[in-house]
Amino acid sequence: MKIQLLLRVLLIVSMLFSCKQEWNEIAISSPDSKLQLIFDLNNGKPTYKLNLNGKPIVLESQMGFRLQGRPALDSNFILLDRKVRSINESWEQIWGEEKIIHNNYNEVILYLKESTGSERSLNITFRLYNSGLGFRYEFPEQENLNEFQISEELTNFTLANEADVWWIPAYQPERYEYLYKKSKLSEVDTAHTPLTVETKDGLFLSFHEAALYDFPSYTLYASDTNILALDLVPWSNRIKAYVKTPFVTPWRTIQVAEEPQDLITNYLILNLNDTCRIADTSWIEPTKYVGIWWEMHIDKYTWASGKKHGATTERTKQYIDFAAKYGFGGVLIEGWNIGWDGDWIKNGELFSFTEPYPDFDIEYLAKYAKEKGISLIGHHETSGQIDNYEKQMEEAYKMYENLGIRYLKTGYVGAGYPGGRLFNGEWHHGQYAVRHFQRSVELAARHHIMLNIHESVKDCGLRRTWPNLMSREGARGMEYNAWSPDGGNPPDYIPTLVFTRLLAGPMDYTPGIFDLEIPTKPGNRVNTTLAKQLAYYVIIYSPLQMAADLPENYEGNPAFQFIRDVPCDWEKTVALNGKIGNYVTIARKDRNSDNWYLGSITDEEARNLKLRADFLEARTKYLMNAYADGEDADWISNPLSLKITQDTIERADTIYLKLAPGGGTAIQFVPIPKK
Ligand code: NOJ
Repeated sequence: MKIQLLLRVLLIVSMLFSCKQEWNEIAISSPDSKLQLIFDLNNGKPTYKLNLNGKPIVLESQMGFRLQGRPALDSNFILLDRKVRSINESWEQIWGEEKIIHNNYNEVILYLKESTGSERSLNITFRLYNSGLGFRYEFPEQENLNEFQISEELTNFTLANEADVWWIPAYQPERYEYLYKKSKLSEVDTAHTPLTVETKDGLFLSFHEAALYDFPSYTLYASDTNILALDLVPWSNRIKAYVKTPFVTPWRTIQVAEEPQDLITNYLILNLNDTCRIADTSWIEPTKYVGIWWEMHIDKYTWASGKKHGATTERTKQYIDFAAKYGFGGVLIEGWNIGWDGDWIKNGELFSFTEPYPDFDIEYLAKYAKEKGISLIGHHETSGQIDNYEKQMEEAYKMYENLGIRYLKTGYVGAGYPGGRLFNGEWHHGQYAVRHFQRSVELAARHHIMLNIHESVKDCGLRRTWPNLMSREGARGMEYNAWSPDGGNPPDYIPTLVFTRLLAGPMDYTPGIFDLEIPTKPGNRVNTTLAKQLAYYVIIYSPLQMAADLPENYEGNPAFQFIRDVPCDWEKTVALNGKIGNYVTIARKDRNSDNWYLGSITDEEARNLKLRADFLEARTKYLMNAYADGEDADWISNPLSLKITQDTIERADTIYLKLAPGGGTAIQFVPIPKK
């Protein structure tokens, strides 16, 4: 009898314990059960862990916020309720690197409330995909937390061990325009995201964020040898964020891959963004473009008025004719508007965004382009003089719409204020700038304008919701090869960028330089072979893809055929191999034909790569047009050596690639009609 009583007591105690366990420690798994997220209210402090196949990726890590002039929102919580759901659906990108995106996750929303004091509420949502984790905070509308200021976000990522990290420094004058460093995690003083990690266990992780609205972007710093702590980019007054409830933060994301190239086709960031907010998207169209641009970077012409002025009516007409002849949809014109004379980097307040220089007949040219089925791509360089720009944006966008100018490149070079901030003292990556860029995107959408933003805040997948936000720069572009005193972008730059910056979204890198040795700029050159320039069109995804060299360098060059053929809107993307900073091979299928394209690039090492052609359709023979490095090609001594060959190929075949030092290969596969 006594034993039975004891057993009953034990049973009740164990039930209570498991209940308590259930309330405080909540676990969800990814749909394939490999990843596991464990949330724990550790003495009232919210924490989380992430495991893969039972092994920790992220050890118990902190969550919560410090607020300005109020108690922190990081402890003292009880769990009031939770909601779980599973989603398994597909959606279509109106343009993209992949047409159909699979969205499959398990979610838990946790409803927390402080157990004492002002009993403020905070909800946390976790979404676990097979390919990673996203979580975000929600501040519900409530009496004791209405309008407030965040002084610190306490979220951190505690890795199981010290790890290797690829990163660029934050809070530097050139924004995101730095060469990536590989270092131990402990050496990260403050880094932008996406930040890529290789763990001791050989896993590849990318830390980033999704759906960045009305909140500062975050950077990361090593707060210990294995801890990456989140740091919100502040306002000039050091406040991190102004919040009014109800409010949800952007998603904090960890993408997980067993092979580095699997990060490339991980669409978690897009999935965490909201569905499209533009009702009629029929006017949104990816395109390749040419433009009056490289000639200024190589000092052949000037943005400023005068004898060497680049954006003249006559030259723009030649570009429009060239674009029409070779099937480009846009012509970018930089230096068309008043304000470039003198030191434009410092005198951005002199820019007018509606007044052209007298030798640029904007009305005539916009009409001339339209008649040829082309759009001018307008350009607004603000030089970070954001107040001047804000005053004129509405008028300027309206003017472009009236003229039928459908694309706009904006720029925010801002080197005038200490640290390279915008001229009003705000960072390009704080809440102020995030709000500004969003105003620009929404205004552009109202005026049917597609945007390409240079010097913008990083991409967090907003293109899903606002697909008129086509491309961004957000890293060192091609232009660094024309003038940067450090010798330009080295051969390992793009093989690194593919696994870092490019994981965030499209980049307007402006590839396609054929005149690699830049005769007008002694001492500068483009550090690739010609074949590698072609491969960039497949490797670097952007729905606005420039052929950046001068028309005269393309005319008559057989390599130009690849740029004419390659599309910039894809049905499918397959990442075939890769090693961060060394090499990568990607195949993509055209969205508007059955053609496939392949790009492969290497760093300064020559490489022989062997691939299966199993991305091609079965029972189909393809004509393979290959643009490979010549036998004697070498990015330093013989960059122009190119071998163009034709062959037939089928899915069961093997592809052998021979990449020269600093080289690459570009291939087009065209199905041969069955007889
Ligand atoms: C920097 C941009 O990245 C570049 O493309 C542009 O030509 C210059 N600013 C001038 O606006």
